[in-house]
Amino acid sequence: MRFGDFKAVDDASFSLEQGQFLTILGPSGSGKTTLLRMIAGFLNPTNGEISINGQAVNAVAANKRSIGIVFQNLALFPHMTAAENVAFPLKMRRFDATKISNRVSEIMELVRLDGLEKRRINELSGGQQQRVAIARALVFEPDLLLLDEPLAALDRKLREEMQLEFRRIQKELGVTTINVTHDQREALVVSDQIIVMDGGKIQQDATPTQMYRTPGNPFVANFIGVTNVISGELMSLSGNTVEIKTSDVNLSGVLRSNPDGAKTGAKVKCAVRAEQIRISADKAELDGLGAIFEGTVTDVIFEGERLLYELLVPQLGPDPVRIFHHDRNDFATHELGRPVYIGWESRDLHVFVAE
Ligand SMILES: Nc1ncnc2c1ncn2[C@@H]1O[C@H](COP(=O)(O)OP(=O)(O)OP(=O)(O)O)[C@@H](O)[C@H]1O
Ligand SMILES: [Mg+2]
Repeated sequence: MRFGDFKAVDDASFSLEQGQFLTILGPSGSGKTTLLRMIAGFLNPTNGEISINGQAVNAVAANKRSIGIVFQNLALFPHMTAAENVAFPLKMRRFDATKISNRVSEIMELVRLDGLEKRRINELSGGQQQRVAIARALVFEPDLLLLDEPLAALDRKLREEMQLEFRRIQKELGVTTINVTHDQREALVVSDQIIVMDGGKIQQDATPTQMYRTPGNPFVANFIGVTNVISGELMSLSGNTVEIKTSDVNLSGVLRSNPDGAKTGAKVKCAVRAEQIRISADKAELDGLGAIFEGTVTDVIFEGERLLYELLVPQLGPDPVRIFHHDRNDFATHELGRPVYIGWESRDLHVFVAE
């Protein structure tokens, strides 16, 4: 999709199985809404084809695509009751009154709004309004449900509750769903499949577990979770196991992406997640890990269920190393300025050859 000379979505090919829940995840401006608008039929792709149920739909108008949509601002009709909002798509499609009334009660029950049918939109809470919007999008049994960050405006607790609700409703109806978000946690929790976008391009297309465990490039490794990145060059390669040389140390890791075939001396980026690094004042406790370094605590942030440490580890360069510490038996804090040891398993160092 081009806007003038600007490519907002660039060579984005993917497919989604019927009944699956796909999330398009990416930072602001990465092309998520543009992609969704093309699928919905509000934008015509400059190039390429979109098919639904095996039928090319490029030439099919938006209102003929059998797609239910929930936008960030919900776009509910404020002067109508909850039930009238939900009935609206059926009226437009000229369903008869009994059918409308039955179908509306069914779907109001599914989204747990029974009893609130006669309320006007401004007499409903934020979460209840979300439910009306999703009921209205689903009431005519669309082939496809599109969600463009409808939960973004909610507070965190309600958002997390509604994420699970969307997931439950989607599973109960089995409706194929494409959800857009920049909330990585939401993507991991609700999806069967995730597409990570950046700069209009698909960075990775994988299941949540694959995306988390085997990120396809440094962008994905950084975008999902808190990740430390170390630069170096490739020394040797055997299968997927690689040896890396940084300015001060040699590291072992697992090769995750290598676009042109690895060569000794190739520049690489290595990523290790904050929760895969262990920290201890006692070096012996880290025995058996693939890489152990000495560092100094420069900051400790209390996050409730875990602590986030920032460390200066001279052998790993000037950037702070971030570590999550979560140990039910040990809430003792390593003090600022005190020397500590950190270590990780070699399999947790993801290595990417620079493109
Ligand atoms: N109609 C348009 N004309 C020109 N540029 C546009 C148009 N619509 C979107 N863009 C540009 O395309 C890029 C992608 O926009 P898009 O709305 O798809 O991003 P997004 O990933 O949904 O971001 P956000 O998370 O902020 O909603 C942005 O740089 C945006 O400015
Ligand atoms: Mg958007």
